[in-house]
Amino acid sequence: METNIINPFITTGYAGAAYFCDREQETEDIIRLLTNGNNVALISPRRYGKTNLIRHCFAQPAIADKYYTFIIDIYSTKSVADMVHRLGLSIMETLKPQGRKAWEKFVTMLRSVQTGISFDIAGNPSWMMSVGDITTPTTTLEEIFAYLEQADKPCIVAIDEFQQITHYGDERIEATLRTYIQYCNNTHFLFAGSQRHLMSQMFLSPARPFYQSVSLYNLPLLPEDKYTDFCLRLFEQKGKHLAAEVPHTLYERFDGITYYMQRAMNELFSLTPEGGSCEAKDIDNALNNIILSSALIYEDLMYQLPEKQSLVLRAIAREGKAQNLTSGKFIRKYGLLSTSSVKSAVPALLDKGLITNEFGVYQLYDKFFEMWLTERQF
Ligand SMILES: Nc1ncnc2c1ncn2[C@@H]1O[C@H](COP(=O)(O)OP(=O)(O)OP(=O)(O)O)[C@@H](O)[C@H]1O
Ligand SMILES: [Mg+2]
Repeated sequence: METNIINPFITTGYAGAAYFCDREQETEDIIRLLTNGNNVALISPRRYGKTNLIRHCFAQPAIADKYYTFIIDIYSTKSVADMVHRLGLSIMETLKPQGRKAWEKFVTMLRSVQTGISFDIAGNPSWMMSVGDITTPTTTLEEIFAYLEQADKPCIVAIDEFQQITHYGDERIEATLRTYIQYCNNTHFLFAGSQRHLMSQMFLSPARPFYQSVSLYNLPLLPEDKYTDFCLRLFEQKGKHLAAEVPHTLYERFDGITYYMQRAMNELFSLTPEGGSCEAKDIDNALNNIILSSALIYEDLMYQLPEKQSLVLRAIAREGKAQNLTSGKFIRKYGLLSTSSVKSAVPALLDKGLITNEFGVYQLYDKFFEMWLTERQF
């Protein structure tokens, strides 16, 4: 797999340890917690590298050789049935390649959805149902947990974007999950999420079912020196040269957020000919290419946005890290309409995922969109 990779700066998913920067301590900590019977909540702002870290941990022999690992991403799920559907599908897809011994017990135990599992001529099962077929989600969930407890190996289940369960409009789901999880001996859980306030409320508030049931783990940024070494090494390996100033400049420009640095390094790598050298002067060109490749999407987004929201979005983009959005100062600085218009626009922009709010600091979610907005004249 790894030798076929032309560009070593991966921007979609996990491609193995050779293309994964550092996270040595985090990997060790998370593996230690999980293999010692703890459940873990992994929290960081968007695009720091949570999902890839989960994949990296699960690929280590201490986990891969001893456990069944299941990863589900519930970001786009809307209900408990939806979540149960994903979980069932993920378990089936993971067990299927491991042979009949692995999947047979799972298929037998899932009584409530038997008709949704079909078999091909060779007798291999497929998860053929849609969300609508999960008519009794809590029963199916109970069956899934019963399977996890009786599986022939210990299990680790990672639920990515876990904060999404707070949007299901079903208050019982937290208590239900907590009850099952509490009684699991054979299975441990890793919950990952990026909306810090939702995740913290769920795990740190005494009134909530998950209170004190997990070890909270805050994922920090990749350290700059480690990221720089990583970039220099990958360039050298492919017979190209990289000036150390380049990752340094990107680190400053993107606040060290992994995704943006990787995206920029990917572009810079592709612009550098074999035997050639990548210098700081190449950065602007690379970033322009990236922004241009999304310009149509950005134009469309702005076109769809009501006037009040687009004014506030541009103001936040110009400010970079904006605070006190409803203050007279902010409103005057960016020629916004009124306090009330800002007050109504902000939740809409948060809801659309265009901006984020961390400890009262508002920023655009997509840093390239921010650059596109600030570099254009309106
Ligand atoms: N340690 C790493 N080394 C190299 N690239 C990484 C590393 N961690 C993450 N990445 C890259 O950074 C990007 C973001 O990573 P990832 O999707 O894991 O972040 P996330 O925190 O799960 O983001 P989100 O909050 O949007 O779900 C991906 O393109 C991934 O390939
Ligand atoms: Mg993720």
